[in-house]
Amino acid sequence: KTKAFIFDLDGVIVDTAKYHYLAWQKIASQLGIEFTPEHNEELKGVSRVRSLDLILELGKIEATQENKNLWLVQKNEDYLSYLVDMDESEILPGVVPVLKFLKENNQKIALGSASKNARPILQKTGIISYFDAIVDGNDVTNAKPDPEVFLRAAQLLGANPEDAIVFEDSVAGVQAANIANMKSVGIGEAKILHEAQFIFPDFTHIDEQFIESLIK
Ligand code: G6P
Ligand code: MG
Repeated sequence: KTKAFIFDLDGVIVDTAKYHYLAWQKIASQLGIEFTPEHNEELKGVSRVRSLDLILELGKIEATQENKNLWLVQKNEDYLSYLVDMDESEILPGVVPVLKFLKENNQKIALGSASKNARPILQKTGIISYFDAIVDGNDVTNAKPDPEVFLRAAQLLGANPEDAIVFEDSVAGVQAANIANMKSVGIGEAKILHEAQFIFPDFTHIDEQFIESLIK
């Protein structure tokens, strides 16, 4: 059967979650806010604007819209500076074999990301042609855990939510997939992603048998 395989981007396909963290950490330390890896988990899958608000809440800082806009620009410029030399080496291990296997088995593939930088990243890493549909931060209004991004992706692939499988590294993203009535596959630590139906530390642990069991 043909199913819809929907991939998150940052921390699932490419190793960019660490760059988002570094860029936010810089803003936080500038503002004298302590920002730990644990805090960062709550920002994964969350839009840029919402992420800044969460950091400011953490530091109990009230800022003008003007200042917020400056920090948002600074964060993105800093983030993009990590990506200037980006190439296929930034793709996480095991991802390309899974994409290939899905294509060979006539499955549909979509991207479902909150990032407004998704398209250039897929282009630079040379994997954009695997995707039958791309839904990113430019296309949706409601951030994960709202299921809008995944519902839109399934719709573009012509699939019902029940026939969609979502790969996610964030708590908000796993929740979005569950709310959408899709299968959720967590990529990362079980203690963080315990709400996912399946959890793997990374794509090298996902074998063809597992994919075949999803296609049936
Ligand atoms: C993803 C990442 C978040 C990031 C968001 C927006 O969901 O997990 O860390 O804040 O995208 O990304 P952007 O590239 O638009 O700032
Ligand atoms: Mg992610």
